[in-house]
Amino acid sequence: MKIQNICCIGAGYVGGPTMSVIAQKCPDIKITVVDVNASRIAAWNSDDLNQLPIYEPGLSEVIREARGRNLFFSTDVDLAIEQADMIFISVNTPTKTYGLGKGMASDLKYIELCARQIARVATTDKIVVEKSTLPVRTATAIKNILDNTGNPVQFQILSNPEFLAEGTAVMDLFNPDRVLIGGEETAKGLEAVQALVDIYSRWVPKEKILTTNVWSSELSKLTANAFLAQRVSSINAISELCEQTGANVTEVAKAIGMDSRIGSEFLKASVGFGGSCFQKDILNLVYIAKTYGLHQVADYWEQVILMNNHQRERFAHRIVKTLYNTVSDKKIAFLGWAFKKDTNDTRESAAIYVADYLLNEQALIQVYDPKVTAQQVYTDLNYLNSRTEVENEVLVKVHTSAYQACEDVHAIAILTEWEEFNTYDWELIYQKMQKPAFVFDGRNVLNKELLEKIGFTYSAIGR
Ligand code: NAD
Ligand code: UDX
Repeated sequence: MKIQNICCIGAGYVGGPTMSVIAQKCPDIKITVVDVNASRIAAWNSDDLNQLPIYEPGLSEVIREARGRNLFFSTDVDLAIEQADMIFISVNTPTKTYGLGKGMASDLKYIELCARQIARVATTDKIVVEKSTLPVRTATAIKNILDNTGNPVQFQILSNPEFLAEGTAVMDLFNPDRVLIGGEETAKGLEAVQALVDIYSRWVPKEKILTTNVWSSELSKLTANAFLAQRVSSINAISELCEQTGANVTEVAKAIGMDSRIGSEFLKASVGFGGSCFQKDILNLVYIAKTYGLHQVADYWEQVILMNNHQRERFAHRIVKTLYNTVSDKKIAFLGWAFKKDTNDTRESAAIYVADYLLNEQALIQVYDPKVTAQQVYTDLNYLNSRTEVENEVLVKVHTSAYQACEDVHAIAILTEWEEFNTYDWELIYQKMQKPAFVFDGRNVLNKELLEKIGFTYSAIGR
């Protein structure tokens, strides 16, 4: 079966880059990315490629090549569904904020809405691909909805979870470690799997395209994120021990990472992991384990989250403690707000939690992030919800330059590992600050020796 027309529902951090790369690699396939969010679609269609709704290195070049040729962004969801032979569902699956499973389970309402819309609109056979991260066995629910439309249209459901990381999305899509495709083990199912394999094999080596049953594929995605997050929490747990004992966490990470069985990736101690995936997916895994009565399994994975919460809180607490146990009316600069470098995404960023903690201690915060807008910073802070705009601007100021953000502050907290921080004139920043001048490096990115020579009191995670 040769796919000629793809629709992707959800033009977010996954749908946008994933479909752009497929479109670039497969110029003969028409790809339409649709979304209910009209302003997001308008931004994807913007002539000015700096106005794309998400920032990802290398993305604008891909969009420039494919958009208007075989890549389209639209709000006409019905039309794109109707015309497609293959439909990717790439909508958000956030943690539920209400009802059963509140705070743990994934909210599948957007997924179900997509399934119902496909069921309502489709008049020809379709392959429906789960691109969103979903609880194991979600495909059953989608299939039930699609198979009960009363019309003869046939659907095949595939699971094709996305493993890209933000900030490196385009490179990850060009050179994935693997592509995972789960399908039904029937003749029709295998045919659908092959149709998707044929798309990826245009640029991904065959040995990296893994096919499994649907449940293994769904569960592998949650498991991969749980394992990655667990490594961060593990090294963060050791970082606290390092601070007590005089060991240096960077040295420990290097020493253990050289063991080929452990490996060196994902061992950077930090103020805590953020992003829209790790916490959500582990909570979901914990919830699934609990629903099967597997309480030890649930507790084991929950600890990864508890450790991360502790790490964020510990960092904020250390700032207060070091600043003589009070930050009331003291200005603190936040360098970085995004949850990691090279993205404008702030979802679950450690910066938000640290800021909330310090605002509760009556600190005044001055933020600079090269890619995050002031409006986003204000939206992120629960603490500000109950206050007026004028009050908020006294509590939190967002600057377009790090030098301005550091003006008159008692301390600087590094929350994101943006590379530009290392190129700054730290001597000049020192002059602008209150003395003694403190730096709390939540990402272990600055040069300790240089800063201490200038006169800063420098502390980092796990050192
Ligand atoms: P996102 O919030 O950036 O984008 C989702 C988009 O779907 C939104 O623009 C929303 O308006 C749209 N949408 C929701 N319901 C819709 C509907 N019924 N019709 C049309 N559009 C609809 O989310 P994201 O970060 O792209 O994540 C999408 C999925 O991919 C999630 O399940 C996530 O867990 C998974 N994932 C995310 C990443 C990542 O790095 N962000 C990586 C791998 C997997
Ligand atoms: C993650 C997974 O890596 C990706 O495969 C999946 O598809 C989506 O979730 P993402 O959240 O975009 O990707 O970024 P990632 O690089 O995994 O970083 C997550 C968080 O962990 C960030 O806050 C990052 O700063 C932090 N982190 C990562 C550390 O603190 N230390 C590390 O060693 C690695």
